[in-house]
Amino acid sequence: MTVDTKTKSYVFQKKISEKGLIAVGSKNDGMYLVLEDPSTGEQKVVLDGISGAAVCSLPHNDPEITSQFTKWAQDSPYTFGAYYGNNAAEELSKFMCEKSKGAFESCLWTQSGSEATENAIKIMRQYHLERGDDKRYKIISRLQSYHGFTLGALSVGDGTRKPPFKPILLSDEQTPKMPQLYPYRDWKAGMSEEDYTKYLLEQAEKVFIDNDPSTISGVLVETVGGSTIGTPTPPKGYLDGLKALCHKYGALLMLDEVMCGLGRCGYDFTYMHPEFGLTTGGPDILSVGKTIGSGFVTLAGLFFSPKICKVFSEGSGLVMGGQTYHSHAFTCKVGLAVQQKIVRDNLVENVRIVGAYMKEQLIEKLKDSKIAGDVRGAGNFLSVEIVKDKSTKQYFDPKLAVGPALHKRIFDKGVIVMGAAGTVGYEYHGLNDVSCFGDHITMGPAFTFKKEHADIIVKAVTEAVFEMEKELL
Ligand SMILES: Cc1ncc(COP(=O)(O)O)c(C=O)c1O
Repeated sequence: MTVDTKTKSYVFQKKISEKGLIAVGSKNDGMYLVLEDPSTGEQKVVLDGISGAAVCSLPHNDPEITSQFTKWAQDSPYTFGAYYGNNAAEELSKFMCEKSKGAFESCLWTQSGSEATENAIKIMRQYHLERGDDKRYKIISRLQSYHGFTLGALSVGDGTRKPPFKPILLSDEQTPKMPQLYPYRDWKAGMSEEDYTKYLLEQAEKVFIDNDPSTISGVLVETVGGSTIGTPTPPKGYLDGLKALCHKYGALLMLDEVMCGLGRCGYDFTYMHPEFGLTTGGPDILSVGKTIGSGFVTLAGLFFSPKICKVFSEGSGLVMGGQTYHSHAFTCKVGLAVQQKIVRDNLVENVRIVGAYMKEQLIEKLKDSKIAGDVRGAGNFLSVEIVKDKSTKQYFDPKLAVGPALHKRIFDKGVIVMGAAGTVGYEYHGLNDVSCFGDHITMGPAFTFKKEHADIIVKAVTEAVFEMEKELL
């Protein structure tokens, strides 16, 4: 057998042995990617409307950041966090805690959101042990949620990617699930916002009661859901109610803002959003990732409230475990520079303003579409859910894989978005036989995006939606 050396991939990821398009650079203020076909050398320039996977807060290759890499690397001897600290991790932690206005007092820096989730599950367990309570080990989370792809993270999540691995995950007994947060389908006609919040909180309390509240370690939810369900925002009062419920039963509240946080939804922390955020303070634990290092470095992390820190310092005083690259000096230096630039250039405000414009435009331009069922999200973290029938909200036959097809069509128009299937749910019959119900596309460009970029994204999305509508109906 002859091997095409140009197209053969040696990376064990996505399509095995096949390179596919290769990113070879960026263009036009870093908002565009240059993708090369390895077999022909042909290049295509595309607007990155989802910044990878909602990762970039700054543009790709931002020279203000990347030009300092050599110096930062030279200033960063490697040290093992269990023995010696470093100033970069200290400075980034202090900067972020100050930004939280007292909600957090300490941070742990990890390499990925999945790793942050794994660490949080253990830290929550240690928190209870420090208080002399060894009964708590269960984490309640939501159906149709995502917290990462490592074993613990996959166990607390739910979605089409989970079922093949169930036999090697934490049990359902250890990871009870609340219903999904899905206003488009579950906030029924005639229900007020208060009614919907009440419904969600009653469901949450039922999960506590059904699973012996004295064994619940924590509740983990995405403040705004991401890739699995397409950016639904919670109703007013839900987060406050969930926090109160956790504390009533002695459990911790952890919010996952890996994808939706740190400015993506138009506010420094998404739980601070005035329409649906917490009205006082923060969660007990918060996870962040993606935009913190803007894709320049592999950085994610956990933030801890004063309550958590107090229990640890009055207990053993020690955080158990520690990984080789936790709170790594170079990645923290880059993270701090990214965060400082976001503040200096008012980029979170830009997300709020241009994001609101993009959402308005999507709603306006898609209002006559028969298949654009819902436009939702906050900041520039926006999604369009596609349905076969807007009045019944019936989704398309999963075999049509409308989400991925839409992704491809929008890409052909020069814009990258995330197209997904499985928005509503899934049925698993075998490795290559998963029915994914419901479809959506999600956007989340770099925080520096302008109205011109929003217009290009909206144009590509609307054209593609109307074309597919013609073909599908
Ligand atoms: C909400 C959420 N949590 C956790 C993760 C896991 O992060 P990572 O892919 O960096 O491991 C993701 C990744 O998409 C995410 O969206």
